[in-house]
Amino acid sequence: MTASEVREKYINYFKANPRNHKEISPAPLVLENDPTTLFTSSGMQPLVPYLMGEPYPSGDKRLMDSQPSIRTVDVEEVGDNRHLTFFEMLGNWSLGDYFKKEQLPWIFEFFTKELGLPKERLWVSVFEGNNQVPKDEESAEIWKSLGIPKERIYYYGVEKNWWSRSGTPQQMPVGEIGGPDSEAFYDFGEELKLHENSPFKKEKCHPNCECGRFLEIGNSVFIQYKKIGEDKLEELPNKNVDFGGGLERIAAAVNGDPDIYKTDLFKPIIEVLDSGSGKKYDDNEVEFRVIADHLKAAVFLFANGVTPSNKQHGYVMRRLIRRFAYKMNKLGIITLKELPKLTEQVINIYKDSYLKDLENYKVHPGIGSEIDKFFSTLYRGEKYLDSQPVINAQVAFNSLATYGIPFEVSRELAKSRGQDIDITEFEKEFEKHQSLSRSTSAGVFKGGLADHSPEVIKLHTATHLLLASLRKILGDQVVQKGQNITKDRSRFDFPNSEKLTDKELKEVEDMINDTIQKSLPVNFKVMPKEEALATGAIHAFNEKYADTVKVYFVGDRIENAISCEFCGGPHVGNTSEIGRVRIKKQEKIGAGVIRIYLTLKPAN
Ligand code: ALA
Repeated sequence: MTASEVREKYINYFKANPRNHKEISPAPLVLENDPTTLFTSSGMQPLVPYLMGEPYPSGDKRLMDSQPSIRTVDVEEVGDNRHLTFFEMLGNWSLGDYFKKEQLPWIFEFFTKELGLPKERLWVSVFEGNNQVPKDEESAEIWKSLGIPKERIYYYGVEKNWWSRSGTPQQMPVGEIGGPDSEAFYDFGEELKLHENSPFKKEKCHPNCECGRFLEIGNSVFIQYKKIGEDKLEELPNKNVDFGGGLERIAAAVNGDPDIYKTDLFKPIIEVLDSGSGKKYDDNEVEFRVIADHLKAAVFLFANGVTPSNKQHGYVMRRLIRRFAYKMNKLGIITLKELPKLTEQVINIYKDSYLKDLENYKVHPGIGSEIDKFFSTLYRGEKYLDSQPVINAQVAFNSLATYGIPFEVSRELAKSRGQDIDITEFEKEFEKHQSLSRSTSAGVFKGGLADHSPEVIKLHTATHLLLASLRKILGDQVVQKGQNITKDRSRFDFPNSEKLTDKELKEVEDMINDTIQKSLPVNFKVMPKEEALATGAIHAFNEKYADTVKVYFVGDRIENAISCEFCGGPHVGNTSEIGRVRIKKQEKIGAGVIRIYLTLKPAN
């Protein structure tokens, strides 16, 4: 069975009666207008407001899709048989509709009947409970009733069987949602060669043991809680289901081989690497895998409008490209002549699903020129690294700043010498020396952070007011070119030939604070895209919107709103909640682009 068939079967299964899910369009990989994250890293991300209780625009309560995702948190793991930075997540959601007793039997039926996975090979895990949330006996009982014996049902704590975008309940910021989950694992068998090498071989192997015998193929999260304070969880108005299963992994289980790179989602790329390097996959697994995964991520980023740069999404893309270029160099593919063949394979694999538009488009020059840039300094960078007695954070930073050597490459060289680099130290170095914003630092490479903290929400609404005020004072040509919000500040980019005068800046700041003081309500309306466009709501032209969109407006009515924008939220309910704001500084960041930093003013 091909991966496309698995995807199709999943979609058809969840669409069919009695499951009756509505298939939704996957979100773009790059969420320019989401202040909380850099990339879509799971299927639930675009659905957060609805999991929190807001009605889904079409009224549907059962949704599903297959979502291309980037999860850079796993970048260090890429090279083994199952971790990826780019992957596809099959997802289904219940927005306060069905719950455990429907979800678990359905996913079981999908795995065993639709895909034909033997049920003897399925193992599951459930939440063991803690002082706030009870042990999930209900899920365990359901699994038993489906024929999974208790020996194959494992209980784990928050580290393994709790899911939120930001991790365990303790790691969740206030406002974040999450819940206990139940995972399904495919057992490739005790006889597996990998198992022999397992660091766990002396212990009894179990589903979350990292030896490679088990592969997690699906996670049903019961999103039921919202964090409302330190150690405090509150039940959400709805009990939701958020299922996610990695297509590459499910395809590997169907293949009966735990190596996801042996599925048809990777095979054609591996074959080109094989013939291009004259080397064998089996002898160079790590290199082949890193190249194949990062290359895919780079092509998808390209398809989403990203180009390599020193900022944000572009910075992640640059690091992924340089990381795989380094491996290509190691394999001896340094002429780049294989690159067009490689990018072509990625497009071929996805031409019927996500990369239709790229079919006649040349992707490789954009990636190739970045590789050229990297190779032009790599040799000197390596010489520099070689000459250092110890490769520490300072040395890694120097080789990045002077030769463009990504952190991972320095770390790899360090490791080959039995040394290691402290990532926190490296980040500190980076922060110290860079005028780049915090978000370009190594921290971002860990993956998007979900931050729905009160500060971020206030700054988000304030940023809408900033845009509205800029348009009032400078004209309607002002649009958003970029936005990034942290707890400390909002950073907003817009086209303008010159910096604003001090007087203009003051006028903008005063106008925002005046609006805040008027205690205006902040509301949203969900409406068909065409209708929303007709209201004149501000929207990004280069972004794809769903057929039904959400428009946030400040004021009583949309018709005379002070600010009105296409936006997913969240926002404060009333402008008075923002307090006061200050324009901290402005910069000219490139030809015709001005950047403004906005902060909240402490109350006094
Ligand atoms: N959102 C859940 C995950 O990513 C399903 O694992």
